[in-house]
Amino acid sequence: MDLTADASAEEIGAAVAALAASPEVDVVLAVYTPPFGSGLEQTRQALSIAAKGAGKTVLACVVGHDVLIDGHLPSYAFPEQAVQALAHAVRYAEWRDRPAEPAPASFRVHERTARQLVQQELSAHPDGRWLSPATTARLLDCYGITMVESIEVDGPEAAAAASERIGPPVVLKAVGPVHKSDIGGVRLGLRTAEEVRQAYHEMSAHIGPQMTGATVQRMLPGGVEIIIGGVNYPAFGPLAMVGMGGVMADLLADRAFRVPPVTDPLGMIAELDLNPVIVSSDGATTVDARIRVAPCEPPPSLLLRRLR
Ligand SMILES: Nc1ncnc2c1ncn2[C@@H]1O[C@H](COP(=O)(O)OP(=O)(O)OP(=O)(O)O)[C@@H](O)[C@H]1O
Ligand SMILES: [Mg+2]
Repeated sequence: MDLTADASAEEIGAAVAALAASPEVDVVLAVYTPPFGSGLEQTRQALSIAAKGAGKTVLACVVGHDVLIDGHLPSYAFPEQAVQALAHAVRYAEWRDRPAEPAPASFRVHERTARQLVQQELSAHPDGRWLSPATTARLLDCYGITMVESIEVDGPEAAAAASERIGPPVVLKAVGPVHKSDIGGVRLGLRTAEEVRQAYHEMSAHIGPQMTGATVQRMLPGGVEIIIGGVNYPAFGPLAMVGMGGVMADLLADRAFRVPPVTDPLGMIAELDLNPVIVSSDGATTVDARIRVAPCEPPPSLLLRRLR
């Protein structure tokens, strides 16, 4: 509907309402070029009111202003961006409406066990929290993601014993601090129980009370280190990330982000950080993982609800 460049705010609002009321129309995109007509402020208000009452998806393009007018009205600086965003939202809504595909036979998913693990955590910690290394490994295992063999220990003697069970060479890692290797919390290639005992003493003296324990891991031969991350924004939904991993991950900042569909969602996982996953011709093994669970089922965005 062409209202000409000089349409008043009132006319624009009425046009949005009239279009939205038509059964032939699914979506309304209002394009307004300031400072014509009634000017930016009044036009924004008229669009906002019309969008709230529309009962259908309304987008705005206020040329040159990519500001959100309000929570009901996504707004873009250029019409192409608005149409592109709308196309993504439609594809995403269609994807969410599909019945879940069965996982490939080679990919074993133990969803019941995973849900039980998360529910146990959330009943003990209703606000959610970062999982312990052991629970993290069990949850990843439900989805066929292999963690390197690890034993949680609480002191130098337990660490030495664990290293004998795993067999040399092993890795000793502090539990507690987040960026462990920066503060001497990762010791690679330990060959004897005595070396492990010694390393534990040095580590706990150096890190102090922030270190609540340690894990002893089998040391993997080299491979390519990648990082896999995921976060579940309450207002946005899940976002997945993959990139070059290891201790240089933040420095390299070589990352790709995708909004699912990339794979089936992992339930109530609020944040996930696998860094690194060591990839070789034998497969992929995670040597460092963090998972935060939280009691949030992300609401589908307003836009998606209204598209259906
Ligand atoms: N089990 C292992 N086998 C082989 N190499 C390992 C193993 N564990 C760790 N490494 C090496 O040590 C590096 C640091 O380990 P890790 O990611 O556990 O510590 P980090 O400093 O905690 O990282 P972050 O900053 O993510 O917490 C890895 O990138 C990898 O090169
Ligand atoms: Mg790491």
